[in-house]
Amino acid sequence: MSTSPPPPSERAAKRLKLDHLNSDSFKNGVFLAPMVRSGALPTRLTALKHGASLVWSPEVVDKAILHAERVVDPVTGVISYNGKTRAIFTTHPVEKPYLIYQIGSASPELAVQAAKTVVQDVSGVDLNCGCPKPFSTHAGMGAALLTNPDLLCDILTALRRELPPEVTVSAKIRLLPSQDDTKRLVERIVRTGVSALTVHCRTRNMRPREAALIERLRGIVEFVDSLGAGIPVVANGDCQGWEDAKRVKRITGASSVMIATAAEANPSCFAVTPLRNLETTLIPSYLRLSKYLDNYWALTKFCVSQFKGVRSEMTKDEAHELKCRIIKAKGYEELTELVGSWTGDADLAEIVKSIHSRRSRPLLVDPPETPLSQLSPSAYNAEDYSSEEDPPLATPPDRPNPEPPTSCAPLGPSTAARMPQPALITGSDKLTPTPTPRHVSPFSP
Ligand SMILES: Cc1cc2nc3c(=O)[nH]c(=O)nc-3n(C[C@H](O)[C@H](O)[C@H](O)COP(=O)(O)O)c2cc1C
Repeated sequence: MSTSPPPPSERAAKRLKLDHLNSDSFKNGVFLAPMVRSGALPTRLTALKHGASLVWSPEVVDKAILHAERVVDPVTGVISYNGKTRAIFTTHPVEKPYLIYQIGSASPELAVQAAKTVVQDVSGVDLNCGCPKPFSTHAGMGAALLTNPDLLCDILTALRRELPPEVTVSAKIRLLPSQDDTKRLVERIVRTGVSALTVHCRTRNMRPREAALIERLRGIVEFVDSLGAGIPVVANGDCQGWEDAKRVKRITGASSVMIATAAEANPSCFAVTPLRNLETTLIPSYLRLSKYLDNYWALTKFCVSQFKGVRSEMTKDEAHELKCRIIKAKGYEELTELVGSWTGDADLAEIVKSIHSRRSRPLLVDPPETPLSQLSPSAYNAEDYSSEEDPPLATPPDRPNPEPPTSCAPLGPSTAARMPQPALITGSDKLTPTPTPRHVSPFSP
């Protein structure tokens, strides 16, 4: 067998294929859940660096993105969708092959328009059908769709019909109180042509602190299997990390597992060995990266306030003192001493490198029926790009994304083109309520 690299045309074709997701991409993975505020760009990049197979954006309500201006930072490569006063959504091309953009919507037309606004920068679009907060449900969005299956399915059908076939459409629901009702809903969703379905194993009325009902998912997974469409079901609820995902997978039979709260506390939880001592490991590099990416300071501070890892190098008091320093800081500049010299470009370069060089790491509970070497790369999502001459950072040529020519050039200060990016994004262009952190943090934003 020849060991020489494939000709450029083959490489380009392979790259294109890998850049597009399909149903298989939602199998055998561990995913970062959509999280308003906590799912900010630096967190998503950190999760990818540490092994998350796919990452979801925070929910953005359809109307909010429609009139945003797309601005690309020529230095960092950050793409920013700016509203009148703030960035509605920011992303970086390195995450595009793994990025699912989540929409909040109660209208097929608006959902399609919103998805088309960002489609060049994402690989999939997900419909939020689970948010129980009144600001969502009052407008007929989020969990309100669970009891309006006609509208829910109309939105999914419209998205599937109107978006390019290489962009996946998926939905994230909650359990309904009755298993039969849940199955009926799931069947309708599957028939819209979605590429995957995530089930948050709590009902609409359950609080986050109540244990997720993951044992209910097996019946739903088996039911979806029996429909024969090959649609992967993603289990969500109370998973603590990579190791724990195997437990969830074993109990539920789900294709993949999605993590929210544990990743909010430690975005490296996707690693076989997550980072410990976050104060000296994760936090300095997260701050450097956030500053380099020009992440809104209050948002960065909020995310760091949620970090909570296993500690052995610092006492509780020392860690508390450090966090207090961060809370009190008015901006990145006040923390220079804490993080060393500002070399966030190096942190981004490291992330880019680790994303491009990561090898397949399927979350297997049982040995695969097919040897890994014979599985298609997309079946386990990550691929080793190290033999490629030019890694697929930029948008493939068949998509109308003019920039950035090389987002691999994170060298130097970023421009002023980006705007502060507060947390939850709704139809009005004002700051809006965000989920209250479930644990009291010593440094609320
Ligand atoms: C801070 C925070 C923000 C969230 N924002 C969203 C969101 O934007 N869209 C969504 O579908 N779910 C959202 N969720 C719910 C999570 O995606 C997930 O379904 C839920 O937390 C259960 O997963 P867990 O048990 O791993 O936390 C959010 C959860 C948290 C903790």
